[in-house]
Amino acid sequence: MHIKQLGTMTAVPHHIARNAFQMHAGQELGIHVPLEMEQKAVRLVGGFLNTPQTAGGHIVSGGTEANIIALWAARERKKIPGGEVVFPITSHYSILRACRLLGLTPRPVSAGFDYTVDVEKLKNAITENTVAVVATAGTTSLGVIDDIPRIAEFALAAGIPLHVDAAYGGFVFPFMKKLGYDLLDFDFSVDGVTSITIDPHKMGLVPPPTGCIIFRDCTMLDSLRPENVLYYPAASSVIAGTRPASPTMATLAVIEYLGENGYKEIVKTCLELTNYFYDRLKELKTIKAVMKPVCNIIGIRSEKLDTHSLKDYLETCGWGVFEFSEWIRIIIMPHLTQGDLVKLIMDLKKID
Ligand SMILES: Cc1ncc(COP(=O)(O)O)c(C=O)c1O
Repeated sequence: MHIKQLGTMTAVPHHIARNAFQMHAGQELGIHVPLEMEQKAVRLVGGFLNTPQTAGGHIVSGGTEANIIALWAARERKKIPGGEVVFPITSHYSILRACRLLGLTPRPVSAGFDYTVDVEKLKNAITENTVAVVATAGTTSLGVIDDIPRIAEFALAAGIPLHVDAAYGGFVFPFMKKLGYDLLDFDFSVDGVTSITIDPHKMGLVPPPTGCIIFRDCTMLDSLRPENVLYYPAASSVIAGTRPASPTMATLAVIEYLGENGYKEIVKTCLELTNYFYDRLKELKTIKAVMKPVCNIIGIRSEKLDTHSLKDYLETCGWGVFEFSEWIRIIIMPHLTQGDLVKLIMDLKKID
């Protein structure tokens, strides 16, 4: 049976990105394609995040690698053995993984009633051993935004780097803001935001593996760069050694092609469909949205079925969905149409 994806965060790539990706397949970044192209791609991505002139970053394999690099740089800045990372419990698992890899001590903080991190608790979790604070713009399970302006205020006052994981939201919220949605600021326009993860392979419509890490101050990358590797001048501050050129070239191609207006239109359609689906859900008696969606991610749960059975049922109807402990995540990606959502509502009505 053909499965239509409702759950994954990686969009069906744009044809321009796919073509550029294929055209450069087998080429190495820094060897066949100059590293300047990567810096150009980072500048273009950063153009959506109010990135200052001092910034720098890399195209990497995805949000996981980007988050590891951000925390690695924070660790190198303040070399405290077993330094602590304060982060929302709703963070993507890569934050915990980064702590484990880097010998850092995880300090998770619970979320409040709106599923964003409890800011007071986050503030109280900071100690003299804290090497980094993390917040999310577009959480993995529900797409909500932590109160980054408030978090940045006290991170800045404490002199601690604040890393914003906008792996998902980075290609959604900037365009929602341009469309007039009233959202909290989360990018480099907020003083105190030190680094941002943003994934072109999610709503940026670039094929995976394509992530991006950007630092407000590019010198934070210096401590990660291997020294004196004479035989390999392309060695950089990322985790990987040999790197593919395709992610960089596909990112460049699709951003140059779509520009801000192109992404704005795509996000507009996704949000209109999300609102349509959210309104139609209100017709159901036992299947409900977890909350009013903040972006194009909706959590749904059933009063009759546990999440596992709901997922199984949707899969038998031909839908690919992601199961979280208390709800099913649905993402209204650009490949979905209103017709798809009508069918989905019909399928849900059968078990309502
Ligand atoms: C908020 C967030 N950060 C990071 C990641 C990790 O991204 P990747 O799977 O590209 O490594 C994800 C993936 O879902 C995510 O939702």
